[in-house]
Amino acid sequence: MAQMRLDKFLGEMGVGSRSQIKEMARKGRILVNGKTELKSDRKIDPQTDTVTADGRTVQYVSMEYYMLNKPAGTVSAREDGRYPTVLELIPQAKRKDLFPVGRLDVDTEGLLLITNDGDLAHRLLSPRKHVDKVYYARIQGRLPQDAVSRMEQGLVLEDGLCTLPALLEILEDRKGDDESQVRLTIREGKFHQVKRMFEALGCRVVYLKRLSMGPLVLDETLSPGQCRPLTDEELRKLSNA
Ligand code: URA
Repeated sequence: MAQMRLDKFLGEMGVGSRSQIKEMARKGRILVNGKTELKSDRKIDPQTDTVTADGRTVQYVSMEYYMLNKPAGTVSAREDGRYPTVLELIPQAKRKDLFPVGRLDVDTEGLLLITNDGDLAHRLLSPRKHVDKVYYARIQGRLPQDAVSRMEQGLVLEDGLCTLPALLEILEDRKGDDESQVRLTIREGKFHQVKRMFEALGCRVVYLKRLSMGPLVLDETLSPGQCRPLTDEELRKLSNA
C-alpha cells in the first residue's frame, strides 16, 4: 500500500482533526513502531507500520460496508438537527467518512447500504444504470383494477414526471377494509417516488420498507436498527453487478 501522512491516517480513523493530531504528536502521545513521533506530517506505510495513539494501536481500514435495517424515525444523512442519523446506528464503524447509499424517507424502513466506497455508490445510484429497488408497502385506498398495467406502462406523477415501467405485485388485497399489501420494483430513485406513484393511483402508502437494491437483499434476521458488515459473497455480487 502507498505511503500516507500520519495525520491523514489518524484523521481517517477518527482519532481527531489534523490540528488535534498535530497537538497530540507534539505532546508525545503518538508512537510509530514503538517510537514517539513528534511530527504528524511524516509519511507512514499503513500496512507495515504500527501506529499507537494514547496507548491504543490504530488499525487502518480503507473501505467499510455495512447493511443496516433502517428503522423509522432516522434520517439517511450524515447530519441532522432533528432526527438521529443512520450513521449513529453503526457503532462499530472505524472510518469517519461513511455515508448512506441513497436516501430512504424518515418513516421508511429497510435495506440501506452504508459505506465510504464512492465508486460503488455511484454505480448503484446512477440514473443511467437502472438498478432495481424492491419495496414492500402497505397501501390505503382502493387500488384501481388496472394498477398493475399502469405501473408497467409508467405513470405521470403530480409534477409531470413520467416514471419508468415498474413491476407491481399485489400480495394481499382485502376488499373490505381498503388496505392492500404490495411489492413494487422500480428502477429509479426519485424523491418520494414510491409514495408518489401510489398517489398517482389515488392511494396512500402507510408503511414502506426497502427489501433489496440490485443484488443486495435485506437480511431479515436484522431487526430495525440493527446492522452488520456485508459478507464477502455480498461484496462480490455488488462488484460484479
Ligand atoms: N420511495 C419513497 O416514497 N420513499 C422512500 O423512502 C423510498 C422510495
